[in-house]
Amino acid sequence: MTTSDSPTTTAVPDHRTLLAVMRLAVRAPSVHNTQPWRWRFDGARLHLYSDPDRVLAAADPHGRQRTISCGAALHHARTAFAARGWHTDTVRLPDPAQPDHLAVIDFRPWPDPPPGVLTRAEAIERRRTDRLPMLAPRGWSGEFVSGLRRLANPHDIEFDVLGDDARPRLAAVSEHADAARHDDMMYQHELQWWTGNSEPPEGIPTDALVSHAEQSRVDVGRAFPAAQHSARRADLTDAARLAVFSTEEDAPPRWLRTGEALSAVLLEATAAGLATCPVTHITELPAGRRTVATLLPHETVPQVVLRIGTAPEGEQRPPTPRRPLAEVFEVRSS
Ligand SMILES: Cc1cc2nc3c(=O)[nH]c(=O)nc-3n(C[C@H](O)[C@H](O)[C@H](O)COP(=O)(O)O)c2cc1C
Repeated sequence: MTTSDSPTTTAVPDHRTLLAVMRLAVRAPSVHNTQPWRWRFDGARLHLYSDPDRVLAAADPHGRQRTISCGAALHHARTAFAARGWHTDTVRLPDPAQPDHLAVIDFRPWPDPPPGVLTRAEAIERRRTDRLPMLAPRGWSGEFVSGLRRLANPHDIEFDVLGDDARPRLAAVSEHADAARHDDMMYQHELQWWTGNSEPPEGIPTDALVSHAEQSRVDVGRAFPAAQHSARRADLTDAARLAVFSTEEDAPPRWLRTGEALSAVLLEATAAGLATCPVTHITELPAGRRTVATLLPHETVPQVVLRIGTAPEGEQRPPTPRRPLAEVFEVRSS
C-alpha cells in the first residue's frame, strides 16, 4: 500500500483515506442496524463481503435485506471515494462459488467527480432513519422526483412515487404484514433482540424508536417494540410521500443494486433537507410483495418502500451507533 495522500501520484488510496472512507461506509443504513458487512483491502483492491453471522433468520431468511444493506454500504463507500478523487471500478459478485463476496473495487484517480457526488458524500453523516410522523416533503416537484429516479435507474432499479390513491392500500398491507407477524415468536424474539437487548454498537437504540402514540400517526411503518410513552410531533399525522424500489428479477445481484440505489436516493433526499425512513416489513413477505406490485406501473418485484418527508425544524437526533471499524475492516493480502 502506498502512503502518499495524492490520488494523482498513487495507484490506490492511502491508509488514511481508506480509513476515512470506511468510517463513512459504515454509516450506511442496514436492516435493524445489523451492519452485515465486512471489508478487506488487499493492498490494491477493496473487497466487500456479506457477513453470514448477521442473518435475520425470521425476518430475512434468504438474505434479501442483508444484501440490500451491503449494497447501501457499497454505494456509501464509492461516493466517499469519489468525493476524495477516486473512481471505483466495481465488479459485483465476482465469484459465483462465493456468494458472500459481493464486490471487488479497483481504483483510479478521478480529479473532477460531478458536484452531485460531493453533495451526497457530505450528506452521509447527516442522514438518519426517521420513524416519527413527517410533514409533506418540502420542495417536492416532478423535477426532484425525476432526479431521484435518475439516481436509481443506472442500477437497473425502478423508483416510483405512489399517488395518494395508493396510500390506503399500502397502509392496509403494512397493517396486514405486522398482523401476520404478531404471533410469530421467532420474528418477535429477533425484533426484541435487535431493538432492546443488543449491545449498544449494533441494533436500533431506544431513542430511534417511537412510542405507541407516535406510531399510531404513521400509517406505513414496521411495528417495533414501542419506546416509552412520548408524543413527539404531536400535531402531525404522517404526510410523507411513499416510494417503492423495485426490480425485474428477484435475486442477489438485484438486491445488491437495490441497496446502491437506496443509498443514492437517501443521500440525495438528505442533501435536499428531507427526512427518510426505509420500510421493509411489507416486502419481506411474498404476499406483501405481490400486493405492492399491483400498485406499480411495471411488472417488477417491490424490494423496499421508502417514506420521504420533512422533519420539523430544529430537531437533531444523535447518530445511531456503529460497530468499531476494526470489527468490519481489515488490511490483508488474501
Ligand atoms: C434493507 C433495510 C431495511 C430496513 N427496514 C426498515 C424497516 O422496516 N423499518 C424501519 O423503521 N427502518 C428500516 N430500516 C432502517 C434501519 O433500521 C436503519 O438504517 C438502522 O437502524 C440504522 O439507523 P440509521 O439509518 O439512522 O443510521 C431498514 C434499512 C435497510 C437498509
